[in-house]
Amino acid sequence: MEVLPSSILSSIILASILKSGFIYCQSSDCYPQDFKALNGFHEQLDTPIDGWDGPLLACCKRIGVMCESSANTPSRVVGLILGNRRLKGEVADSLAGLDHLRVLNLSGNHLGGLFPAKLFQIQSLEVLDLSYNDFQGSFQDSLNLPSMKSFNISYNKFGGPLLVTVCHNASYIQTLDLSSNNFQGQIPANIANCSSLQQLFLSSNYLSGKLPGALFQLQNLRELHLGGNEFSGQFDARIGNLVNLVKLDISDNSFTGEIPDSFSRLVKLKHFYADSNRLSGPLPASLVNSPSLSHLRLSNNSLTGLIGINCSSMIHITDLHLRANLFYGPILEELSTCHRLSYLSLGQYNAGKLPSSFRNLKALKHLIIQNASLLNFTAALETLKHCKSLTTLILNRNFMNEEMPQKPNLQFRMLQTLIIANSQLRGFLPVWLSGCPKLQVLDLSMNRLSGSIPLWIGMLNHLFYLDLSRNSLTGDIPGSVGSLGNFANLNFSTEDKSSGIPIYLKTPGRQSLSYRHIGSLPPTIDLSTNKLTGPILPDLGNIKWLHILKLGNNCFSGNILEALSGMKNLETMDLSLNNLSGVIPGSLTELNFLSNFNVSYNELHGEVPLGGQFQSFPISSFIGNSDLCGLPLGPCLPPLVQPDQNHYGVRAVWKLEESNQHRPATCSGRKVKVSCLGSPNPLMVLVNTIVPLYINFNFMIC
Ligand SMILES: *[C@@H]1O[C@H](CO)[C@@H](O)[C@H](O)[C@H]1NC(C)=O
Ligand SMILES: *[C@@H]1O[C@H](CO)[C@@H](O)[C@H](O)[C@H]1NC(C)=O
Ligand SMILES: *[C@@H]1O[C@H](CO)[C@@H](O)[C@H](O)[C@H]1NC(C)=O
Ligand SMILES: *[C@@H]1O[C@H](CO)[C@@H](O)[C@H](O)[C@H]1NC(C)=O
Ligand SMILES: *[C@@H]1O[C@H](CO)[C@@H](O)[C@H](O)[C@H]1NC(C)=O
Ligand SMILES: *[C@@H]1O[C@H](CO)[C@@H](O)[C@H](O)[C@H]1NC(C)=O
Ligand SMILES: *[C@@H]1O[C@H](CO)[C@@H](O)[C@H](O)[C@H]1NC(C)=O
Ligand SMILES: *[C@@H]1O[C@H](CO)[C@@H](O)[C@H](O)[C@H]1NC(C)=O
Ligand SMILES: *[C@@H]1O[C@H](CO)[C@@H](O)[C@H](O)[C@H]1NC(C)=O
Ligand SMILES: *[C@@H]1O[C@H](CO)[C@@H](O)[C@H](O)[C@H]1NC(C)=O
Ligand SMILES: *[C@@H]1O[C@H](CO)[C@@H](O)[C@H](O)[C@H]1NC(C)=O
Repeated sequence: MEVLPSSILSSIILASILKSGFIYCQSSDCYPQDFKALNGFHEQLDTPIDGWDGPLLACCKRIGVMCESSANTPSRVVGLILGNRRLKGEVADSLAGLDHLRVLNLSGNHLGGLFPAKLFQIQSLEVLDLSYNDFQGSFQDSLNLPSMKSFNISYNKFGGPLLVTVCHNASYIQTLDLSSNNFQGQIPANIANCSSLQQLFLSSNYLSGKLPGALFQLQNLRELHLGGNEFSGQFDARIGNLVNLVKLDISDNSFTGEIPDSFSRLVKLKHFYADSNRLSGPLPASLVNSPSLSHLRLSNNSLTGLIGINCSSMIHITDLHLRANLFYGPILEELSTCHRLSYLSLGQYNAGKLPSSFRNLKALKHLIIQNASLLNFTAALETLKHCKSLTTLILNRNFMNEEMPQKPNLQFRMLQTLIIANSQLRGFLPVWLSGCPKLQVLDLSMNRLSGSIPLWIGMLNHLFYLDLSRNSLTGDIPGSVGSLGNFANLNFSTEDKSSGIPIYLKTPGRQSLSYRHIGSLPPTIDLSTNKLTGPILPDLGNIKWLHILKLGNNCFSGNILEALSGMKNLETMDLSLNNLSGVIPGSLTELNFLSNFNVSYNELHGEVPLGGQFQSFPISSFIGNSDLCGLPLGPCLPPLVQPDQNHYGVRAVWKLEESNQHRPATCSGRKVKVSCLGSPNPLMVLVNTIVPLYINFNFMIC
């Protein structure tokens, strides 16, 4: 039996509740008790509900109110469905007066405070949806909801210990969703009371400890979501008791030990997520032979041994996430017979060559193999070009020190994301990249690529994230960069936003891996730390949608042009450590989103422009220039040379003393200004080296 998506399940519950005899907004009668309850609720809210105007309006005519009447009885309110109505304030306990209420849906509002305990006592209530609000407080011990079928309080701030009293007397409860709250402590043993449960969501709380044995008695469970908590202990072999499981998620916890060999009993299991735990040992035979599994996620554990996936058994496997483990040895040819594989991530030592049989993986869309000592990049690309569905290729930290393949016959027509960073690759930016017309994300940072940035880069119409930082690229930025398609006219069509793509985040001092969704990457051009020269062209100003521009640590020269203020969405502009001269144009103050700005260590002069965020940027955004002044720097006065008591002879202006240590090697050989003690005339000195120059100046005779 297929498991139904929870939304369908709740609409089926809803449909069966709202069966015949149900009148929606028709009766003008209003049962007095219901009238009072609804008015009390309405009055306590901070904002009026649209369509509830006039306190005398009949209950059943109000928007979101559902009534039911039969021949002899007055119609009663059975449903209050006010999801996504921007309701604010607290919920009045008068609402408990609706003692025929079966469905209460207040999801997606801004309701807060304590949820009245009395409402957790409505005997007729079958569906409660309070998700996406700001309700808080610990969960009351006094729940009595004998008719409850679907209970959803996810995405609130409920906290305290997890008391599953919601299941007391609730013999029909199928769905319990307590995810994304602040519940703490262990899962109590009385979870066994929830024996009719089919879906249990406890993800993203602060739950801890071992899983209680009682949990493994819930024979009807089809979905168990425990991800994003602090559970620990051995991952329990009794999981095999839950024979109806279709989805099991224990990711982002601290489970230890080996994965139990219990999967032959879980004949319906399709999704097993256990990434980011501390699981060790080899993959058990029942897991790598599971005929039902379609999604297996075990990334970021300490699993060892060979990756012995048996494709002859695992006939449904489409997603296999195994990266960041301690697997060892070559990538097995066998994997290429998993014909349905769409997502494959691997992490192992000494992976050797990518098997050429991988060319048979026609369904493969995402391939991620990082830090696996892969060899022969040319051969790997020759193989992968046959995988016609490939959209994501991430091969960081492989092919160490190999030459970038240049064969023009390589084509990846569907490729959207190509990330091969941190691999010390040599050679030029390969022309075959121009045969990847759908490329959106290109990250070749931290290699040793040389040569110039080719003109054809501007033909990649969908590119919105370009990172070529930390290479040895030379020459100018071609003007065509300014016509990069998506930069100028952003149109995200990235598919599969759900699958996190691990990307190197460059934090100073260390490199860490982080899951980012491709769709959440900010539009970026990062060319920093290369040997680029020439002017920063006004064409860049065309790139209206750019969020991040990093050109630091090169040797760009000329002026910063007014036209750059065309990048209206820019948040970060880093031009530090270059040879830029002239003034900072005042037009940059029009960049309303600019929050990181750095022009330090250039040859700029004049006043820091007044306005925008400019006066709030730190001094380190501007240091190391010859003559910048004005807030946040000192006032624009004629330069004052302080006599230096400790040294004789010449000393550099203090700003330059600091800067000289940072100057990039590319930019050495230029002149810097120093002031001679006692002399009113500044002196131009040719700088030929990046060693701390102030020492030389200090001992230079004036
Ligand atoms: C609970 O509500 C949230 C938010 O509306 C929803 O995403 C989730 O699927 C619901 N849970 C169940 C089990 O239906
Ligand atoms: C509650 O209302 C929201 C918003 O209209 C809807 O998405 C959700 O499915 C409803 N919940 C149930 C259980 O029907
Ligand atoms: C269960 O229902 C019975 C009878 O309706 C009631 O006496 C009892 O207090 C309820 N139990 C809980 C835990 O609410
Ligand atoms: C609920 O759990 C408690 C404690 O585990 C137990 O004493 C009680 O009999 C259970 N009630 C039902 C209805 O399962
Ligand atoms: C890997 O798992 C550890 C916990 O075992 C977690 O702290 C870390 O954030 C995870 N890393 C990634 C990249 O998910
Ligand atoms: C792989 O699966 C096939 C088909 O189920 C089975 O005959 C074979 O023994 C399995 N191989 C291993 C090594 O388990
Ligand atoms: C790469 O793998 C080596 C072992 O081969 C390991 O020591 C190192 O920490 C890994 N580096 C990253 C960034 O994962
Ligand atoms: C890489 O593979 C290709 C084709 O398989 C082969 O011709 C070449 O010699 C290999 N290069 C190295 C360095 O092993
Ligand atoms: C944006 O992308 C969609 C889907 O790829 C396409 O249909 C649409 O024409 C594009 N819009 C623009 C303005 O490029
Ligand atoms: C600007 O760049 C310089 C050189 O890289 C760095 O030392 C300084 O901390 C940066 N300042 C800011 C505000 O980013
Ligand atoms: C630095 O810029 C100046 C003025 O634009 C130029 O004359 C000089 O050649 C540049 N220096 C280098 C090393 O590019």
